[in-house]
Amino acid sequence: MKNVTATKYTVNDVSAGGSGSCQPVLRSHTMKLYYKIAIVVGCLVGGRLLFYLLLNMFPAQPPPRQGDGRVWRVAQGFQGRPVTRHPAAFRSPPRPMFDEQPRPLPKRRKKPVHDRDLQEPIFRLHRWKGEEWVHLAVVACGDRLEETMTMLKSAILFNIYKIKFHIFAEDVLHPQFESSIKAWPYLYKSRLEYSLYPINFSMGNPQEWKKLFKPCAAQRLFLPMILKDVDSLLYVDTDVLFLRPVDDVWKFLRLFNSTQLAAMALEHEIPKIGWYSRFARHPYYGAAGVNSGVMLMNLTRMRSQLFKNSMIPTGLRWEELLYPLYHKYKNAITWGDQDLLNIIFHYNPEYLYVFPCQWNYRPDHCMYGSNCRGAENQGVSILHGNRGVYHNNKQPAFKIMYEAIRNFPFEENLFQSLYFPLQNSFLNTVHTLCGRLSQVFLKQLEQAMKKAYELRVIHIG
Ligand SMILES: *[C@@H]1O[C@H](CO)[C@@H](O)[C@H](O)[C@H]1NC(C)=O
Ligand SMILES: *[C@@H]1O[C@H](CO)[C@@H](O)[C@H](O)[C@H]1NC(C)=O
Ligand SMILES: *[C@@H]1O[C@H](CO)[C@@H](O)[C@H](O)[C@H]1NC(C)=O
Repeated sequence: MKNVTATKYTVNDVSAGGSGSCQPVLRSHTMKLYYKIAIVVGCLVGGRLLFYLLLNMFPAQPPPRQGDGRVWRVAQGFQGRPVTRHPAAFRSPPRPMFDEQPRPLPKRRKKPVHDRDLQEPIFRLHRWKGEEWVHLAVVACGDRLEETMTMLKSAILFNIYKIKFHIFAEDVLHPQFESSIKAWPYLYKSRLEYSLYPINFSMGNPQEWKKLFKPCAAQRLFLPMILKDVDSLLYVDTDVLFLRPVDDVWKFLRLFNSTQLAAMALEHEIPKIGWYSRFARHPYYGAAGVNSGVMLMNLTRMRSQLFKNSMIPTGLRWEELLYPLYHKYKNAITWGDQDLLNIIFHYNPEYLYVFPCQWNYRPDHCMYGSNCRGAENQGVSILHGNRGVYHNNKQPAFKIMYEAIRNFPFEENLFQSLYFPLQNSFLNTVHTLCGRLSQVFLKQLEQAMKKAYELRVIHIG
């Protein structure tokens, strides 16, 4: 899809230059007629020649960028996405576009995983890989349609790989999901696929599962059995927003060692004030438990491994494990499926990859003071507005992030219509501890936008 259009390149500049140099000569009245004719012909032929010469040297090249504040519009990026470009939004010095060559890919070295990699394994410039798919699953019930659509929108704004959405929803919501996605611009839709599934509890007592925690949440425990053809899957709660390409969290799969089959972030950075360490009446992972709002899974491994547990010494397969586990602990669990996951990984800690807190950033990380070091250094990668903070006024920093992405019109410039207004909104949130951390909330978003533009500009032509 190379569709470089249309910054129209008129020839006025070239011909104006040509005739300009001839004019003083023509004005001379003392000149003999044949001289005049010769010069006029010379100028015309020379101008034309020069013009054709230039035209062939730079076929269909857009003009060099100028720092005059004009907005260059390039109709479609290399992935067929709309791109608008505002020179002032970039700090890199302006260069003529035809000087820009695709950069060579950074060489991938085989090396052991270092601490640095755990903090920031990724975000290298990636070339478009046609066959790489990210599988993203969400379970939406009740009034979560708008929230879910906003999450999905944040997923497609910056991603490079193609995405397949697996949307589990009550039947009544299916037509609304379908029409909402159909209303997205074609250029975004062309890079995603989606499937809608009914809520389906294939074992045990469906009514009992549905009541566990909030409506439908336990559905995600059954994904390894329902999505039999899917190798790996990113599951997120509906109240999650991606502030950088989904591809980046997907790459954690490659950092799994041979026993790891799922990745989650800790429930709390400071165990002493964490919920599990103070109140839980059941086993949980590590010192403070894990939060299941963002969960990366290698389903192939989840389907094949045996899980140690407190009931049967030989271990159980995932599908055999869930119901007995639920029965044993149902009177002790508070947070439903997240508690079951904590019990499972308590007995199988070698199966879990723990990713840093900026990949599942919640009000807990800032409302009593900042306690997520990774987000302070690198910014939030995935925002998780639990406790309903997108819809109440308790944490305005989370609310303005949600509303900005929800309201962003796809066709507009990301900086002008999303980033700069958000920066302004943060001026009104400084009465809260979270609201004072605008850099933490905006840093990855800014980088993702710059990268999105860079990638597309580099690949044009
Ligand atoms: C529910 O999932 C099972 C697989 O676990 C599948 O066999 C069944 O057809 C599904 N039911 C519906 C209604 O989709
Ligand atoms: C998931 O695990 C299976 C089995 O170990 C492996 O073949 C597959 O490549 C893994 N998937 C990813 C995306 O790493
Ligand atoms: C994989 O990493 C986990 C967590 O660090 C660890 O407990 C486990 O032993 C590792 N597995 C292997 C095979 O090294």
